[in-house]
Amino acid sequence: MSNATVLITGALTGIGRVTANAFARQGDRIVVSGRHEENGKALAAELRALNAEAEFVLADVRSEAEVVNLIAQAVRRFGRLDVAVNNAGTEGELVPIIDQSIANYDATFTVNVLGTLLCLKHEMRVMLRQGSGSIINLSSVAGQVGIAGASVYVASKHAVEGLTKSAALEGATAGVRVNAVAPGPVETAMLERFVASSGEAKAAFLAGVPARRASKPEEIAATILFLASDQARYLTGQRIAVDGGYTVQ
Ligand SMILES: NC(=O)c1ccc[n+]([C@@H]2O[C@H](COP(=O)([O-])OP(=O)(O)OC[C@H]3O[C@@H](n4cnc5c(N)ncnc54)[C@H](O)[C@@H]3O)[C@@H](O)[C@H]2O)c1
Repeated sequence: MSNATVLITGALTGIGRVTANAFARQGDRIVVSGRHEENGKALAAELRALNAEAEFVLADVRSEAEVVNLIAQAVRRFGRLDVAVNNAGTEGELVPIIDQSIANYDATFTVNVLGTLLCLKHEMRVMLRQGSGSIINLSSVAGQVGIAGASVYVASKHAVEGLTKSAALEGATAGVRVNAVAPGPVETAMLERFVASSGEAKAAFLAGVPARRASKPEEIAATILFLASDQARYLTGQRIAVDGGYTVQ
């Protein structure tokens, strides 16, 4: 039993949801957040059915007031914040640079970059006071390499990795670790949207991955749980690629 207090943003679907289940199964206390009250309450009930203490807090990561409320609720309910998984993200509109728009730039950066920054700001205020904590930001292979047709998403994930490294330096002396997990294609709704925008069949899309398959969200959750754990206590400021070899080709 690990018994940590864990906060996950964008937790109602995909990687966030599977990660919440994985933390619940190891006996942690979970605060899940997202933008849909009914689905969020259903997820918290699902986690409680695993014998975990779990709460849902409505939060859009683009709003500083909602992020402040989310973290305050977590601390009010469980007394501390040990782990935060900044998972909320959007791929935005996947079009070539010549078709990009300011609206898509704003929509993508406000969730992926500003959202991550606001979460880091308020999570770190709690963790620096505590003198401990582990934060895991969701980056992507797009945080390291370019992807034709996904420039704005790629730029936003490069920014997430910059935030991760700087936050790690600001937290290191106080025992607050900040790392990024960088998945390749993962079997979630986001991947289906990526494949649809590429105009290729899914098998052709995945042929560029050395492992010749997408990962399961459980395979991403396993790395998030490792980074959250004491096993990773000397690991900070790093990106761990979980990408079937995509970025070492
Ligand atoms: N699926 C992949 O292939 C893949 C690959 C690399 C990285 N990622 C990253 O993993 C993370 C999770 O993605 P996923 O694959 O589970 O897809 P997903 O679309 O199922 O999950 C993203 C979640 O973020 C939520 N979200 C979006 N905007 C939000 C906002 N403003 N406030 C709060 N929540 C918001 C969505 O509602 C959704 O629940 C994202 O950061 C994504 O960029 C995914």
